Amino acid sequence: MERVAIVGSGLIGRSWAMLFAAAGYKVRIYDIEPKQITDALSNIRSQLEHLEEIGLMRGHLTKEQQFQAIEGTNDLKYCIEGAIYIQENVPEILELKRSVHQKIDAVMDPTAILTSSASTIVPSDLCSHLKNRNRFIVAHPTNPPFYAPLVELGPSPWADPDLLPQTTALMKKIGQSPVTVKKEILGYVLNRIQYALLRECFSLIREDVVSVQDLDMVMSDGLGRRYAFIGPFETAYLNAGPNGMLDWGRKYGADILRVCQSFGGPEPFEGPTVDKMQSEMVKYLPLDKLDERRKWRDARLSALAKLKASFDSG
Ligand code: NAI
Repeated sequence: MERVAIVGSGLIGRSWAMLFAAAGYKVRIYDIEPKQITDALSNIRSQLEHLEEIGLMRGHLTKEQQFQAIEGTNDLKYCIEGAIYIQENVPEILELKRSVHQKIDAVMDPTAILTSSASTIVPSDLCSHLKNRNRFIVAHPTNPPFYAPLVELGPSPWADPDLLPQTTALMKKIGQSPVTVKKEILGYVLNRIQYALLRECFSLIREDVVSVQDLDMVMSDGLGRRYAFIGPFETAYLNAGPNGMLDWGRKYGADILRVCQSFGGPEPFEGPTVDKMQSEMVKYLPLDKLDERRKWRDARLSALAKLKASFDSG
């Protein structure tokens, strides 16, 4: 059975471990902090139990088989040796990631795929110092990867020509939806869009245009509803006349430009606006209910994935 290595067992690492185990891979998961591994394993067990309870298990293996496929370790070499695929998930700090990559580089199989979950740092900064930099590619997941399939693949400038197709095929095999980021760019695609959205949301709250709860509903019951099925371009294409994007540009272009011209520039995510968001958020989602709400979110994302799959196969 092929084996993969997960380095860093926080939020993202444990979710990748579950994904690979559900797809029938053996997984070794490493963390510098032993307690993190214990926590990750107990969290994975409870997520699998919950998924079984609500009938939303992924793959064909039982809950116990999936759990048994994941082994925690405090030994990086043991984690990496023999792995065909390595996913690094340590905090988004350039020097930390570079030093972890160097340690992995020293023990990895030169034909293995080395990936990072990095969400903003570009591939060349993460791997320029590695002897195996030709095997390096960023695989930036959407949180939580087990429930949200999009993965952005960003190869290093030194990547072997077969690295992107191999990683794309592997991601599809484990049930993810890979997209290619063709050029190095800070923040990749998902976070550039997400941060543009957050920036405007921040300003709408600062200006007291809308409440935090209503703004969240604009997404969940408005834009998010349609974006679960089609993206902004297809939305525009369908909303226009018989000439698609050309009609859309003619019909809405001037309005969009006028509104865009009223946008402000970047501002730090701190200060009284953050305090205001926090005080409104805790009213409708108290801090001691976060775990419960994460479970609720994950169950709904799983159900949505099943619904989408049933539409696609029907
Ligand atoms: P996290 O803080 O939950 O987990 C990080 C883990 O790395 C911790 O368990 C920590 O003990 C471990 N760690 C720290 N130094 C280490 C070392 N030298 N060797 C091994 N393990 C070490 O962070 P999270 O959220 O899982 O993020 C990990 C990566 O995934 C980051 O690059 C982040 O930008 C990216 N990412 C995060 C998303 C999110 O929404 N949380 C979404 C997509 C990507």
